[in-house]
Amino acid sequence: MGQGFGKDYEQGEGVNTTSNPFIHEVDGGRRHVLRCTTAAVALLMGSHTLTAHATTAAKGKPLGFTGVPASSADALVVPPEYDAQVLYRWGDVTGMAGSAAPAFSADASNSWQEQLLQSGMHHDGMEFFPLDKNPRHGLLAINHEYTDDGLLHSDGMKTWTADKVRKSQAAHGVSVIEVVERAGVWRVMPNSRYARRITGNTPMLFSGPAAGHALLKTSADPAGLRPLGTLNNCAAGQTPWGTFLTCEENWNGYFSAQDKPNPDEARYGLRAKGFGYRWHEFDERFDAAKHPNEPHRFGWVVEIDPQDPTQTPIKRTALGRIKHEGATTTLSRDGRAVVYMGDDERFEYIYKFVSRDKVRPGGYRANQDILDHGTLYVARFDEQGYGRWLPLVHGEGGLDAAGGFASQAEVLIRCRQAADVVGATRMDRPEWVAVHPNTGEVFVTLTNNSSRGKDGRLADAANPRNDNIMGHIIRWREGKGRQDSAVSRIDGDASATEFRWMHFALAGDPNAGKAEYRGTIKGDMYGSPDGLQFDAGGLLWIQTDISTSVMHMGAYQGMGNNMMLCADPATGETKRFLTGPAGCEITGVSFTPDRRAVFINIQHPGETASERGDPAQPKAVSHWPDGPSGGRPRSATVVIRRKDGGVVGT
Ligand code: FEO
Ligand code: CA
Ligand code: CA
Repeated sequence: MGQGFGKDYEQGEGVNTTSNPFIHEVDGGRRHVLRCTTAAVALLMGSHTLTAHATTAAKGKPLGFTGVPASSADALVVPPEYDAQVLYRWGDVTGMAGSAAPAFSADASNSWQEQLLQSGMHHDGMEFFPLDKNPRHGLLAINHEYTDDGLLHSDGMKTWTADKVRKSQAAHGVSVIEVVERAGVWRVMPNSRYARRITGNTPMLFSGPAAGHALLKTSADPAGLRPLGTLNNCAAGQTPWGTFLTCEENWNGYFSAQDKPNPDEARYGLRAKGFGYRWHEFDERFDAAKHPNEPHRFGWVVEIDPQDPTQTPIKRTALGRIKHEGATTTLSRDGRAVVYMGDDERFEYIYKFVSRDKVRPGGYRANQDILDHGTLYVARFDEQGYGRWLPLVHGEGGLDAAGGFASQAEVLIRCRQAADVVGATRMDRPEWVAVHPNTGEVFVTLTNNSSRGKDGRLADAANPRNDNIMGHIIRWREGKGRQDSAVSRIDGDASATEFRWMHFALAGDPNAGKAEYRGTIKGDMYGSPDGLQFDAGGLLWIQTDISTSVMHMGAYQGMGNNMMLCADPATGETKRFLTGPAGCEITGVSFTPDRRAVFINIQHPGETASERGDPAQPKAVSHWPDGPSGGRPRSATVVIRRKDGGVVGT
């Protein structure tokens, strides 16, 4: 069972206890980490990031808000002393300067050309980039993870056309919008010189060790350097040099593969009909039997400069090809970039990239190739709370020609297979990664894994429950530590190749019938944690993604709709901050630097258990946010403030 720092959580030690040495020992090592995270990041990030990541003195008591109960209502519920404003719904105008501003058609009859000028569907990871150091004026970069084609078109998928494929592709990708607050009201700026839509067809570049490799070459791009589009953009990240990292997760679902996928295709989940998007029927690029290298051009982390709408997004191959959940960047003690990444599938791995070069002052211009050179590692979680980062470097650890890897490019393109070879630990679906702004401690959500315990893939120290339908949150501190050394001596250097880990919480409902589903949460219950983010004050925000196929059923019966909670890692105390409307997922969370506002996304309100809506009854599950007079539910970005203008989370 799970152990951390040699303590068994079931004996009441090691999880959410005030004796936790991670949190309560302020020693020389920790003070150094403080300098290397908050201060160093602030120094390097320049104007906007100085405030974005500096720890501001929180006003008010952490978790001082009124917690909200679990809910199954078709409503967004926030504490009574807060308000929530809907800011940017699917179909709302993005606001590019000089372009048309087509209004949303409630019957989903907007054309694909109009969709290119409007918000995409299914908002996910998101980052706020202040402009001119102003916490009330900035850019939001927002992922649009996927589409529900039952709601995207007036008659759903009943008829299927090239134009519907184009509309679906146009509703994927990223929005960059300019937002401003005046007198407590946030709005999206029209005619913005920054606003931009990036879609499944936007021209991009490859960079890094795999760029131009034979496995990336296609008939349309014989050089293997110019991929088209980004897909299934799930979580995201903001770099210390001011760019947005968007991450390609379940990209395999868009491809129709040959009837019998080869082993490399099977390792990434390619199958004959994909997930049923049916793009290949009108866009041959997504027929992997005809274009077997096209799937190699997805599964990457893509870097976007939100301040330059003319920038060509860059797929950074040095960060590996997996089903990327997110990309969370921090700095090592000596100022190099460290990017943490989860591969969200059952029994997949957690990765980190450490750059070769130090981050330089001067923003993106000074750091254009920093993510192209460095070392990619994958995590191995050992017993007794020890862990090790295993390098994915060609020529090391069996990653050579004899092991089936001809070059570093192949290690990166076949990243999962490389991680298999070096012996990484199979996790219960790694989702978001969050780094504490002061201590450098790393937290990761493992959302759930009902297959744990089956086919001999049994619970282990880090993934301690078979039939893990509730998920858990793991935490670690980087650095080398002998078994008998105090945890406080572990220096927290993000570039370390060893770490000490423990569980933050096993999720669950304390009233669940089965002991395994009850969990160890100190405070309000939740299951299937997914989104995870620290605010600059060190409060941990947890968002849930309970699948609509299990919501309100079985052990999830009393859990209600998806939610966002706030936890104080110093005490483990966890309080529910909001509950979402029916059928939604809560995902995406970004704060203004002054922490007076938090942006979150309501993804797929009204989703049915099949995950595709019925066009004849688009409001069968939800009519959020437009209400009964609206045509259909719409994913949306929401901004939440304390009514008195105080710090969110207090
Ligand atoms: Fe797109 Fe793993 O959530
Ligand atoms: Ca997610
Ligand atoms: Ca998810």
